[in-house]
Amino acid sequence: MKVYRNAKLRHQKGLFDIWVDKELVYEIVPAGQLPLTAEEETDLMGRLVCEPYVESHIHLDYIDTANVPAEGTGSGTLFEAIDKWSDSKSVLKIQDIKERAYKGIKAEIRNGVQYIRTHVDVTDPNLTALKAMLEVKEEVKDYLYLQLIAFPQEGYYAYKGGDELVEEALKMGADVVGGIPHFEFTRELGEKSVKKAFELAVKYDRLLDIHCDETDDSESRFVENIAAEAYYTGVGSRATASHTCAMSSYNNAYAFKMMSKFKKAGINFVSCPTENCYLQGRYDGYPKRRGITRIDQLVEAGCNVSLAQDSISDPWYPLGNGNMIHQVDFGLHLGHMMSVEQIQNGLDFITINGAKTLSIEDGYDLKKGNKASFIVLDAPDELSAIRERAHVLLSVRNGKEIIVKKPEEIVKEPF
Ligand code: FE2
Repeated sequence: MKVYRNAKLRHQKGLFDIWVDKELVYEIVPAGQLPLTAEEETDLMGRLVCEPYVESHIHLDYIDTANVPAEGTGSGTLFEAIDKWSDSKSVLKIQDIKERAYKGIKAEIRNGVQYIRTHVDVTDPNLTALKAMLEVKEEVKDYLYLQLIAFPQEGYYAYKGGDELVEEALKMGADVVGGIPHFEFTRELGEKSVKKAFELAVKYDRLLDIHCDETDDSESRFVENIAAEAYYTGVGSRATASHTCAMSSYNNAYAFKMMSKFKKAGINFVSCPTENCYLQGRYDGYPKRRGITRIDQLVEAGCNVSLAQDSISDPWYPLGNGNMIHQVDFGLHLGHMMSVEQIQNGLDFITINGAKTLSIEDGYDLKKGNKASFIVLDAPDELSAIRERAHVLLSVRNGKEIIVKKPEEIVKEPF
């Protein structure tokens, strides 16, 4: 038996001891109240403990490709990045993609992530990236739950045979059906691609996550197709609309009508604050839009929203570092969600909300009888954690410490 003493738990007063027996949480009790002897003890000294971070949207097969094969993007637009990627990806081999993915995975694990949903580009007749990521998924399973999306970066139909490659990827073992309707040639083909994605999700009993309306075009409304299909097929909360940037440009009457439909359909939303504000607004002068979906209104309507990173240095976005709390900081600012209560709930976006998006419902919560998987932040409470973008000092997965760090040490200061 091992005990982690003096933990601050989210939304609870006082400090607690977390007792761990092998890979399970044996008990969580107010500090000092369980008269047992532990073989090992760690004093967390009042630091905040929460469930492991969930990265609900990233492209691990693109890590560090911002300059592959040569120059970066100039315009900062989504569509130039897709064209550039189309020219670049043929040079990448399985080992190369694996090394890139590992770079991202290591960065994320170091920052307290234990669950990742990654989109994998399948618009490639050889499905090289998928083969690489299937190997990675198996190799990292003791440290990380990795969910793979069959993502047709260049479309179901804009890329000839894209629909067949998505289906082939599902047969090979991809966990989630992807899509990109706003990239298809026409609205009709975009709608057809959403319908096809749901058909595949039902046929192969898979989750679904579609890049949706990642544009400032207020006429891009594929999110309504996703909501309708989720509702009528019964896929419901197993479906996710990623980005929905256009929602920030919709007129209020339409957006208001759709909120109750989204809730009824049960779909999840993922917003990627840093990347969305970088890629969107590129065709605007001033005033300039920032492409952040209506996170506050979706939350208010009772929809599940998670925040995610999207990229670590690729043609779409040059920065990114695997530290999810940066996305919370940006998301709260750009989403105008800065009341103390909203900040205190901010970690939900990268923990429990992300877990819902990935459909990890059983065993994720930190409670007695569940797997002992949690992280320790170098902060005394939620508000301080977000204000300071607190470091993750410890990451415990199934009872094993997989990341251990020392607190930041100040060697010299003037006062
Ligand atoms: Fe993405």
